[in-house]
Amino acid sequence: MTGLQELLLSRIRDVADYPEPGVMFKDITPLLADPEAFTALTDALAGIAKDTGATKVVGLEARGFILGAPVAVRAGLGFIPVRKAGKLPGATLSQAYDLEYGSAEIEIHAEDLAAGDRVLVVDDVLATGGTAEASLQLIRRAGAAVAGVAVLMELGFLPGRARLEPALDGAPLQALLTV
Ligand code: PRP
Ligand code: MG
Repeated sequence: MTGLQELLLSRIRDVADYPEPGVMFKDITPLLADPEAFTALTDALAGIAKDTGATKVVGLEARGFILGAPVAVRAGLGFIPVRKAGKLPGATLSQAYDLEYGSAEIEIHAEDLAAGDRVLVVDDVLATGGTAEASLQLIRRAGAAVAGVAVLMELGFLPGRARLEPALDGAPLQALLTV
């Protein structure tokens, strides 16, 4: 394990039985509250943005906003929010996706992306991959290309990476930690 990984892992708190019995919640608030760890995380994700040749950073509501906005600033790129349905006032593209029980819908302002843009999606966790997969569909429907997906942590016991692979279409999925 690298020094960065040790630092990040040491600031993620495991909360048992949240939000429901049997689930181990990965709480990133201690990491956010630690300027050294939050800066190291931001720098690492901004490095991925540069390495992938991204021209824009998309953050996924809500925790992907917290991580993605400073990454965009650090990398010198624009930030685009992908929001849960009903929150964006302009002309939006919507994408529905399945959850374990039920479904969800996310949206983007179509005008924020253009042909020629290469987008890095930033989020805290890749679990089933459903949210990230839907975001890649939105990016392509907006006419832009996918530079990659970068997450703080991937839940290695779930098949999110495999689910995301077709939508990535060769673009990289980079997880700083696998937990
Ligand atoms: C969580 C997490 C990821 C997503 C991962 O978001 O922050 O965005 O689930 O799950 P998936 O890979 O199975 O799609 P959630 O919407 O639960 O909460 P948030 O609004 O706090 O980010
Ligand atoms: Mg989220």
